[in-house]
Amino acid sequence: MKHEESIIVLDFGSQYTQLIARRIREFGVYSEIKQFDFDLNELDKLNPKGIILSGGPSSVYDKNAPLPDKKLFDMGYPILGICYGLQVIAHLNGGKVAGALHREYGRAELTVDDHSDLFFQLENFLTVWMSHGDRLENMTDDFKIIGHTGNAPIAAVRHKIKPFYGIQFHPEVVHTPKGNKILENFVIKICGCSKSWNASSFVDTAVNEIKNKVGQEQAICALSGGVDSTVAAYLVARAIGKNLTCIFVDTGLLRAGEAEQVNNYFGEADFKFIHVDAGQRFLTKLDRVMDPEKKRKIIGEEFIRVFEEEAKKIGDINYLIQGTLYPDVIESVSTKGPSALIKSHHNVGGLPEKMGLKLLEPLRELFKDEVRKVGKELKIPENILGRHPFPGPGLAVRILGEITNERLAILRPADKIYIEELKKNDQYDKIWQAFAVLLPVQTVGVMGDERTYENVIALRAVTSMDGMTADWAKIPNDILAKISNRIINEVKGVNRVVYDISSKPPSTIEWE
Ligand code: XMP
Repeated sequence: MKHEESIIVLDFGSQYTQLIARRIREFGVYSEIKQFDFDLNELDKLNPKGIILSGGPSSVYDKNAPLPDKKLFDMGYPILGICYGLQVIAHLNGGKVAGALHREYGRAELTVDDHSDLFFQLENFLTVWMSHGDRLENMTDDFKIIGHTGNAPIAAVRHKIKPFYGIQFHPEVVHTPKGNKILENFVIKICGCSKSWNASSFVDTAVNEIKNKVGQEQAICALSGGVDSTVAAYLVARAIGKNLTCIFVDTGLLRAGEAEQVNNYFGEADFKFIHVDAGQRFLTKLDRVMDPEKKRKIIGEEFIRVFEEEAKKIGDINYLIQGTLYPDVIESVSTKGPSALIKSHHNVGGLPEKMGLKLLEPLRELFKDEVRKVGKELKIPENILGRHPFPGPGLAVRILGEITNERLAILRPADKIYIEELKKNDQYDKIWQAFAVLLPVQTVGVMGDERTYENVIALRAVTSMDGMTADWAKIPNDILAKISNRIINEVKGVNRVVYDISSKPPSTIEWE
């Protein structure tokens, strides 16, 4: 998509690179991440108003230290170097970087020596977050020191003539409480950006682009009822209306009441909506399959088969819509986590080539929270936008072991009670994802005077920014007690409930 103006973040491998782009977008300025060695001849096309060099784990003296083309400093863009980015600026502009006596990690107090631009309207002393090995020992006379700390005499610098700035600390993390103002000073005051990028301007531009691109041709979309595919579909529908057909494949592996809910809601939409009830097909294919990867593979393949059959019935289609998000497309040093390799994720990958379709991914520039804002702009109701993510293979990866109608009938009501109680007790929106899992073991219990030998339900709830890393949610004990009581009392075949207290990594969010 073409943007009027942007801030380009060159990534040198910091775990915080994505955060820099997110913070900047929060002020209403479009920001995009590119790898440190991005071809600078392509830079002008992105309409940058400024460049940020991210942090990174390297030392500028490492044999293969990531460094940008030196030409970057002759292009006239304002540049802000953060941590390793500062050292890159120093190293390529005659300064001296050296190993600090102590690796500095944690909070530090920055004394501001100059308030004119980067630290405009900020106090004299700021709490900042440091995380570095090397530090700046010497800067050439071309630079002025504008901030220092006890351990880093050169913690913030500005070039005396050119708009180059560098800071040793991380303004993008919450541990630097005034970090947003520092970034905003760079983006708005120094680069002159105009805060005009928001959900509404995004929708206008995207709708126009989709109209121009798709014209009178036909598009299809696999609609799951999840946030991403729903927002993608509504956005495209705003551009092409009934030339979009959305196919909802009911795998029979959905949660309680979900298929009905999706039908009711999407049946009213501006696009054509097809509901395929394929539950029996999936269950037959999954008969006696226990292995998680096999389950995923079977579901993925069957999904594509069903989808393809339906698409063929529609006839002449040119585009396939997918709700791919920005974290999946960033080509950076650091942001590709290991999770993609650990489980084969199921989506309609491979379909476009096979069916000769062109791919349209209208959300590929957005983070999840931005997708929700766009959804709001498109008037999609909160109960759909606020939903927790749900995996393509559905309950199949939450029923450990064999998947049968009987076991689905145990998991569904247990999960329903869990989610109901989380909502009732104001927990649902604080949690990234919560769900029940049916374990493949039975345990002994006692009900009345009778011995029971029944199933165990595990409750999983995690907090997370993006699903790549996650912490188990600290749901208050009394709420957990209520959930456990209700599940054991109301769901036939369950006599024990356990709570999962593992974070990711080393565990994953789903159990399979
Ligand atoms: P894991 O279990 O890998 O999950 O920590 C990370 C996030 O991805 C979701 N997930 C999937 N989503 N198809 C999907 O569309 C899948 O096959 C799949 N597997 C896991 C999971 O629910 C969590 O949000």
